[in-house]
Amino acid sequence: MKQKVWKVALGELLDVEGVVAEEVMSKDEVMLLPAGVSLSALRETQPDVVSLLLKHGVTHVKVKNVPAITAGEFRTALGSVTPAVTELNPLLTKIAIHQFGAIYENIEDRSLRERGIRTMLTIAARLPGEIRRTPQITLSLVGVEDRDRERSHIHSINVALLTGYIAQRLFPVLPAFVEACVLGGLFHDIGKAFFPHFSWRGAGGGLLPGDAKIFNCHPLLGESLMKDVGVRDVHVLGAVRSHHEKWEGAGVPDRLREEDIPMAARIVAVANRFENLTSSLLEEDPHRSDQAISTVIGLTSSDFDSRIVRGLLASIGLYPPGTVALLSDQRVGIVLETKERDLLCPRVLICADARGRRVSPFETLKIRKEGNVYIKEALDDFSRRRLEPYVPAAAG
Ligand SMILES: [Fe+2]
Repeated sequence: MKQKVWKVALGELLDVEGVVAEEVMSKDEVMLLPAGVSLSALRETQPDVVSLLLKHGVTHVKVKNVPAITAGEFRTALGSVTPAVTELNPLLTKIAIHQFGAIYENIEDRSLRERGIRTMLTIAARLPGEIRRTPQITLSLVGVEDRDRERSHIHSINVALLTGYIAQRLFPVLPAFVEACVLGGLFHDIGKAFFPHFSWRGAGGGLLPGDAKIFNCHPLLGESLMKDVGVRDVHVLGAVRSHHEKWEGAGVPDRLREEDIPMAARIVAVANRFENLTSSLLEEDPHRSDQAISTVIGLTSSDFDSRIVRGLLASIGLYPPGTVALLSDQRVGIVLETKERDLLCPRVLICADARGRRVSPFETLKIRKEGNVYIKEALDDFSRRRLEPYVPAAAG
């Protein structure tokens, strides 16, 4: 578990959560504040501590986060929730990441490349089953190595899953189409494999003219690669070729408009943008899921088909799974799942009480419309990708 230590100005000491990281001594070596003391306890028992420290010329205090929830604990907690919240098959995800890695590394070798993509198609065929097995998006995906390339593969898998959830919700009676959408989502950026040394960070904004050319041709390269390996499904090919088209016709590569954009591509486009906004791969300062939803909604009509944006919203809710939520009674929890009819009333895993102390064992709470506890605001994301520990102190 990563421990975070930061300096807090004296004036803010009693407004943050955490524990004192290092003992604070006066100039003549008198202990003013012992290490390990909880700031919330200090607030209650020694509210005049700030003036005492000030008197001794202290300006900052080092604070560290309170014990956080590890990925392992969180998984255990998920398992204890009734009814169970299913995690998407982590092994399948790991295999898919590995296989993506193989495809990218072998891109120079034509035969290996084709074999790699065929293997990936076989793996991908299991994803729609996973989506049907888990009707609500839940916290998903495994922790990954902190390597850009692996994270870009995670991006493709996230887009595939999100595309699948939206497609499943909008077209529940067309399983073959949902499957094609998942494949389209998975391979939407395969054309980027032709540029292994090109940095895609910031793609879609702030590119140099030369970079923009590379960026603009990856959908076409991807489509021809998929054709090369024998993919004939028009929905899959359409998703790969047209996922950067925009609803009002300002996209690439064909400047298609509205209904002319293949449906699978419209779904991948929304999933891709949402995933990019929340991803630490492309954004220096990733959006929280609820902020990303607002951004995507703001781009409806210029970039996206409004029906698909509604599908995204219905799939993940206003407070998507993984959102760290501050409740009206000051408790903090993680949103586990949202039901379509009740976007404001998800199920929440309570992790910290009103004073920021861990709740053990974790409890779940169903937010109810008629109840008096509601989500006051979203705090920070409990990352879907890296399952980093949730830290109430940093979140506040
Ligand atoms: Fe792309």
